[in-house]
Amino acid sequence: MKKIACAPLRHLQTLEPYRTGTPIEWVERELGISNVIKLASNENPFGPSPRVFAALGKEMEKIRLYPEGGSPFLREALARALGVGLDRLVVGNGSNELLILLSRIFLQPNDRVLTSAQSFVVYEQAARLARAAFDTVPMVGHTYNLAAMASAIVARTKMIFIANPNNPTGTAVRPRALLDFMKRVPEGCLVVLDEAYREYMEDAFQPASVAWSRRFPNLVLARTFSKAYGLAGLRVGYLIAHPQITDVLHRVRDPFNVNRLAQTAALAALGDHAYLRRTVQSVLRERSRVSRRLSQSGCEVAASQANFIFFRCPEPGKLGPGKDLPVYLLQQGVIVRPFPNGWVRVTIGKAEENRRFLSNLMAWRQAGRSRREATK
Ligand SMILES: Cc1ncc(COP(=O)(O)O)c(C=O)c1O
Repeated sequence: MKKIACAPLRHLQTLEPYRTGTPIEWVERELGISNVIKLASNENPFGPSPRVFAALGKEMEKIRLYPEGGSPFLREALARALGVGLDRLVVGNGSNELLILLSRIFLQPNDRVLTSAQSFVVYEQAARLARAAFDTVPMVGHTYNLAAMASAIVARTKMIFIANPNNPTGTAVRPRALLDFMKRVPEGCLVVLDEAYREYMEDAFQPASVAWSRRFPNLVLARTFSKAYGLAGLRVGYLIAHPQITDVLHRVRDPFNVNRLAQTAALAALGDHAYLRRTVQSVLRERSRVSRRLSQSGCEVAASQANFIFFRCPEPGKLGPGKDLPVYLLQQGVIVRPFPNGWVRVTIGKAEENRRFLSNLMAWRQAGRSRREATK
């Protein structure tokens, strides 16, 4: 193809695109199968509260009107729920939008971004978009090594991303370690604590992050309605940050960044505490069950505090060409997310979906064993 004369900036030409989960409809069409389940993008298998659908029904009549700029009603509700001032909140088209905007606001070329290896891919994208260098520190036991990260901060480190719990490993750090880390970060370096999966953490892991964000002006919290609130398809996330940070974000964001239906849905979802508690509890029960089954069958399993599990089976990985576990599961209509070196991330679904995932995994392992025995 002929090269266009108005070439995109060089540093963007090598940017890796974000790989989204394979859609159910695509798998059904390509493989000619039905009843496919997606356990690949850490969505909520129960969907949002029924109150969301009722609220959306009414809001549909208004979709010819632009949404409220700045999501004022949602921010009011969040401010009340979290006990923070309105001026500390910014709502975005998913938290992704806000993570990228932060990098645009705070990073200059040659600044450095620091995070852990094996963390959320958007952090690298945020750094690269701003032409900043991207530094990672190896994990210990699939978990952020905060002490090593603190030692890796250099003068040009201007932004640090911490996913707690982390995607893809699902692990979380203890509040004490996080607080010690914050004390070691220079004030001129922004720490973005990404709490996309915070609702799934056990109490002992829950940090007092909102209180910390008042104590440390350089701490920004990122949260989302995509996971526990079941609204991934509508795109709503938010930041809690110092007013001087939110002020700039409000000036640079798209004036209508969060659409009308998304604002309405998030507001309704936020009000239904009982539904949130019930669905989170169900995911936690299933998370223990699936983790236990995977460990009992000899898989290596990272300790999850999220709504997904990161694991690796002891098999060398292949049943035959193209038949590693994610490929096999896909053919059985179960979409999971593959990672390098045989690691797999599976989202916790409804009980029957998890049963289907586990029974297919056991079948894959049995087929591998039979195949090895046959070739002995
Ligand atoms: C750690 C982490 N942060 C942020 C996000 C983005 O969430 P949102 O849907 O709000 O953009 C995700 C989504 O997968 C995530 O895993």
